[in-house]
Amino acid sequence: MKKIALSSPHIEALEPYMSARRIGGSGEVWLNANELPFPRDPMQLDVSQYHRYPDQGPDQVEAAYAAYAGVQPEQVLALRGADEAIDLVTRAYCRAGRDKVLVSSPTYGMYQVCADIQNAAVIDVPLTDDFELDVAAICARDDVKLVFICNPNNPTGNAFRREDIISVLRHFEGKALVVIDEAYIEFCPRQSLAGELSNFDHLVVVRTMSKAFGLAGVHVGYLLANDAVMSIMRKVVPPYPLADPCAQIALLALRESGIETMRSEVDEIARIREAFCRTLSELTSVRDYLPSAVNFVLVFFDEPDNAWRALTGAGIVARRIPDPRLTEAIRFTIGAEEEMALAASVLEIPG
Ligand SMILES: Cc1ncc(COP(=O)(O)O)c(C=O)c1O
Repeated sequence: MKKIALSSPHIEALEPYMSARRIGGSGEVWLNANELPFPRDPMQLDVSQYHRYPDQGPDQVEAAYAAYAGVQPEQVLALRGADEAIDLVTRAYCRAGRDKVLVSSPTYGMYQVCADIQNAAVIDVPLTDDFELDVAAICARDDVKLVFICNPNNPTGNAFRREDIISVLRHFEGKALVVIDEAYIEFCPRQSLAGELSNFDHLVVVRTMSKAFGLAGVHVGYLLANDAVMSIMRKVVPPYPLADPCAQIALLALRESGIETMRSEVDEIARIREAFCRTLSELTSVRDYLPSAVNFVLVFFDEPDNAWRALTGAGIVARRIPDPRLTEAIRFTIGAEEEMALAASVLEIPG
């Protein structure tokens, strides 16, 4: 067949995001995608209306999430995961070939991928040596449309200083949107900036049920924002953002009992994480690890290839991060107690 180049050159040149599933791996112990290790209970869904399209919103899910997040229902847009929120805000606010987004590496890779798809340039203002926001350097870039802040940050696992985020918010008022990705916020809820929506019209908060709510397979996320941003987002949102089974499952998880379950699982993950970190400090193969506020830990090794071989040999799939500062690091999702015990035991390798 004759090959005809029809796609946009910037899409031809694109590297697709390497999600944990796309990278794959073989083994029984999956510690690579920051999911919860606890299987969900079976649930019964009402399928009687599945010959119809679902509600556009759906309003009930947005209202339930608003009540949980402490914001107004009209400040919530339910979407297919946090990734769709990142994609939509990038497409709505960045003109192809003209506008720029700011990220602080090492951070979540989808900001770059969505900017690349939109043909928006990415300005990287790396985190400082202790993985904090470089506020002065960020505020020196007045030529950007979107500032992405992942808080707490993936892959470093720390939450940034609140006063740093507020300084960035104040600086970009009237200049750019500040998008705070709170995918992991349930693990440290006091760090949320959602309460600042009443103070800043250019603030966007991104949330998900894929992490602490343990619903990665359902893939429901949210964009929280005020009227001005929301009226733009409603122009670009697909007509049926949530499939009805996903909406029903999200609603069940947002009932009082669902939120209680989420909170007790978050506590359990924190307990397993602390025990894992205590063990890490005793392992000679481990050089260091970053204190974590979330359900994953970034661990540094003197011999990362040896550690990786030991893990894969034992059927443990963890994650290496393609960042020049993290070539000696491996990121471990906090799994079940026995999974973390296995990981720790195989890391006890001859140096
Ligand atoms: C920081 C961050 N934001 C967003 C996402 C994507 O979330 P979702 O599953 O809701 O698309 C992830 C997933 O790993 C993440 O780590």
